[in-house]
Amino acid sequence: MKDIFSRLISGRYSCRAYSPEVPAEEKIDYILEAARLAPSACNRQPWRFIVIPPTDAEGRRAVAAAYSREWIASAPYYIVVCGVPAEGWVRPFDNHSHIDVDASIATEHMCLAATAEGLATCWVCNFDPAVLSGGLGLGSELVPIVILPVGYPAEGSKVPAKTRKASEDIIIRR
Ligand SMILES: Cc1cc2nc3c(=O)[nH]c(=O)nc-3n(C[C@H](O)[C@H](O)[C@H](O)COP(=O)(O)O)c2cc1C
Repeated sequence: MKDIFSRLISGRYSCRAYSPEVPAEEKIDYILEAARLAPSACNRQPWRFIVIPPTDAEGRRAVAAAYSREWIASAPYYIVVCGVPAEGWVRPFDNHSHIDVDASIATEHMCLAATAEGLATCWVCNFDPAVLSGGLGLGSELVPIVILPVGYPAEGSKVPAKTRKASEDIIIRR
């Protein structure tokens, strides 16, 4: 079990070149189920997952317009993770909404599920939310938080070495 988990953690990486091969729908369903089972504050599940398949030209145009990096066009699927502010848990002490936290947990569940299925992903947050919402026709009740491209990695692409801070620089033991 520990071994499986370690392999998933080290096998997940930000893939920015995808194969044209379209993953089977069952694999996408498996990934979405991993998101559905994610924990969320007060179990509010304040999220929606917009699945943009390769056949959805309008959806793909919306993604391309909101995130103008050529590489993203190579991904056959996109899952746009949206938060629903009205459903999210707000901490009473400081009115801090936790929809970003909840959406992030669901997103990483999907990244790991994709890895388990031999697929690759990349978190994308550096997009124009107004352009994406407009292109997808989202109402104001939904806030797009992450675009997750999903597909098989392009031939020859390798899991890069992880560049991370050292434990002693980030762990504070008291
Ligand atoms: C919240 C978040 C937002 C990110 N946004 C982008 C993005 O807009 N574009 C991109 O290419 N990568 C994005 N990334 C990927 C990071 O650059 C990447 O996770 C980091 O460099 C570590 O590399 P790794 O994922 O391959 O381990 C994002 C990652 C996270 C967690």
